[in-house]
Amino acid sequence: MSTTVPAPGTLASTPQVAPVVDANHAAAYDTPAGYRAAITEIRAAAAAYYTGGDIVMDDATYDALLARVTATEAAHPQWARPDSPTVTVAAGVAGGGDVAHSVPMLSLDNVFDATTLRGWAARLDKALGRPAAGYTVEPKVDGMAIAARYVAGSLVQVATRGDGRTGEDVTLQALGVAGLPAQLTQPVTVEVRGEVFMTDADFARANELRIAHGGRAFANPRNAAAGTLRARDRAYDAPLSFVAYAVHDLPGGVGLRHSAAMAAISRLGVATTAGSTAGMALCATVDEVVAAVEWLGTARGDLGFGVDGVVVKADDAADRADAGSSSRAPRWAIAYKFPADTRTTRLVGIEVQVGRTGVITPVAVLDPVQVGGVVIISATLHNFDDLVRRDVRVGDTVWVRRAGEVIPEVTGAKLDDRPAGARPFTPPQVCPRCGGDINRTQKRWRCVRGRACGAAESLGYFAARDAMDIEGLGDKIVNALVAANLVTDPADLYDLDVATLAGLERMGPASAGKLVANITASRSQPLSRVLTGLGVRMTGRSMSRRLARHFGTMQALRDATVEQLQQVEAVGPERAATIAAELVELGPVIDKLTGRGVTMTEPGPASAAAGGIRPPLRTEDGTPMTVVITGSVPGLTRNEGNEAIETLGGKSSGSVSTRTSLVVIGDGAGSKAQKAEQLGLRTMPAATFAALLTAYQAGDQTTVESLLR
Ligand code: IVH
Repeated sequence: MSTTVPAPGTLASTPQVAPVVDANHAAAYDTPAGYRAAITEIRAAAAAYYTGGDIVMDDATYDALLARVTATEAAHPQWARPDSPTVTVAAGVAGGGDVAHSVPMLSLDNVFDATTLRGWAARLDKALGRPAAGYTVEPKVDGMAIAARYVAGSLVQVATRGDGRTGEDVTLQALGVAGLPAQLTQPVTVEVRGEVFMTDADFARANELRIAHGGRAFANPRNAAAGTLRARDRAYDAPLSFVAYAVHDLPGGVGLRHSAAMAAISRLGVATTAGSTAGMALCATVDEVVAAVEWLGTARGDLGFGVDGVVVKADDAADRADAGSSSRAPRWAIAYKFPADTRTTRLVGIEVQVGRTGVITPVAVLDPVQVGGVVIISATLHNFDDLVRRDVRVGDTVWVRRAGEVIPEVTGAKLDDRPAGARPFTPPQVCPRCGGDINRTQKRWRCVRGRACGAAESLGYFAARDAMDIEGLGDKIVNALVAANLVTDPADLYDLDVATLAGLERMGPASAGKLVANITASRSQPLSRVLTGLGVRMTGRSMSRRLARHFGTMQALRDATVEQLQQVEAVGPERAATIAAELVELGPVIDKLTGRGVTMTEPGPASAAAGGIRPPLRTEDGTPMTVVITGSVPGLTRNEGNEAIETLGGKSSGSVSTRTSLVVIGDGAGSKAQKAEQLGLRTMPAATFAALLTAYQAGDQTTVESLLR
């Protein structure tokens, strides 16, 4: 065991990784045997996928194999087999089930980049002999396809997709699925098609329930949704959700645009992709389609449910009718697949890390694997209870999931791939850093020495630019100070003098003098920075600012009850309880810091301006404007940019929506700027924003007004 493993999610610098085959430019097989073997593999994987069995292959590998089969058929048409997955839907899936679909449930063709997407649009225009009259862009929800039949407004039958022609009856299991009501708002006879899936919240709850009933956690939300939907005898009801993406036989639906038909079934009470957090974009041109696809790619991690891509469809009914379908997929729709967010790889080792606050966590060391477009070499295994319960073992092939910006996680092991002799993991008996006892009373184990065990990390965090911003107090000096026993907590820093510091290796009197001056100057940092530096668990920079602004003084914050803490935005019961407990634990250090003259108050927005002028990012009635910064603001870190918004009286936000009042656009701005433009929002160049901050802090009303104009 060692503590040298990189933090979960660290990217490999020289990726020794089997590349995800670029499915748009795949290599043909050079022998018929290779081609046939690939078909057999695809059939086995497709059978498991469409029937919701244990997934035997990850999505990216499947797509890559399919692309090679397609390329082989183009290069060697004489080898092509009638049971090829390029010809029929889920070729080879044994018997779909008892329910015959009214119209076959087709698949979708895939593209993986903008160029090929444009190629699809050009082919569609060519087939139509005219430009397509608009497109829709909606999420490709990663769940299980179903067809749901309503008669006179009542849900009478739900079937899985099966082999595309017949599916399995899951009517009973589908009762109670959110978004798929038992009764429509009107007595309409109609069939809706869509995806049954688990939201992130559904998935967490389903695993809790399953474990409480003595089962093992599900490996990923798709498996969980498929397993739950198909399970006939369930001891408990795991939550499932549904969104529709197609409708058949809608009364009065002939000639309706896809977007209008979906709006109609939404009015009947059925959830649709358009009503999901991802929404449905209506695009007139392919450029707009590409922008909408890119936007969904960046928003992917924040949707609250898993998407494996985007589906682009011709919106106009005549376009769809004229384009038609092959036996496998419609020509009027295309799936733009995102880099897979779930892959499998080998678990090479399990390391144990001790964090800044003494929290001890197991970390997976992985064979490098591309997940969500980046190479992952380590991932979190959450906590020891979870690891033991999931029975993940070194040598196992494991599922790795990386959703958006979150830390990659190992969600489970593939038991059918377990090497002989793989042994269960033994959790540590003592803290691997200091050898001390471990407190196991909570899910997250902690060294009993808590922060003292991680003194060097705590001090580094305290001194960081976004916290107390003590220039010159880098890792080397911090380590030297801790090793020499000169500092055990952040407050000790304020007792250091030039002579003591100058005695350290590689520290002359001049730099020692500067460092002491910087440490002394940091005493006037506001409360929000002190809180950030203390590293209160379950808080970060923006939460620290929120707490500081809400309570104004450290004393008021320490006096707050758990209920009072919950009055702060985004503080729920669990976070409030942790913050309260942390403030008690940190009490002695806070007292020591107060004794050393460190500021324990937060200036209000108005007092920040020397001239006391009105904060410019407030509306007439004093409401803070919601402001988003995209790209960089000259001279400010991201955190400082957000602080600046708040200093100017606004509220900072990370995502652009119709509720955004202002978008600040700097160098390197991404899709948020495009979205601001699409929504017609007010924007401001980053340089103007920086000038606004300077003018406001100087109390220069005239300049503030001219910059806002
Ligand atoms: S349209 C005839 N729209 O993806 C067109 N499919 O890989 C039918 N899927 O079988 C498909 N989200 O299960 C469509 N917004 C969406 C979708 C979607 C997920 C699934 C569907 C389909 C599979 C193809």
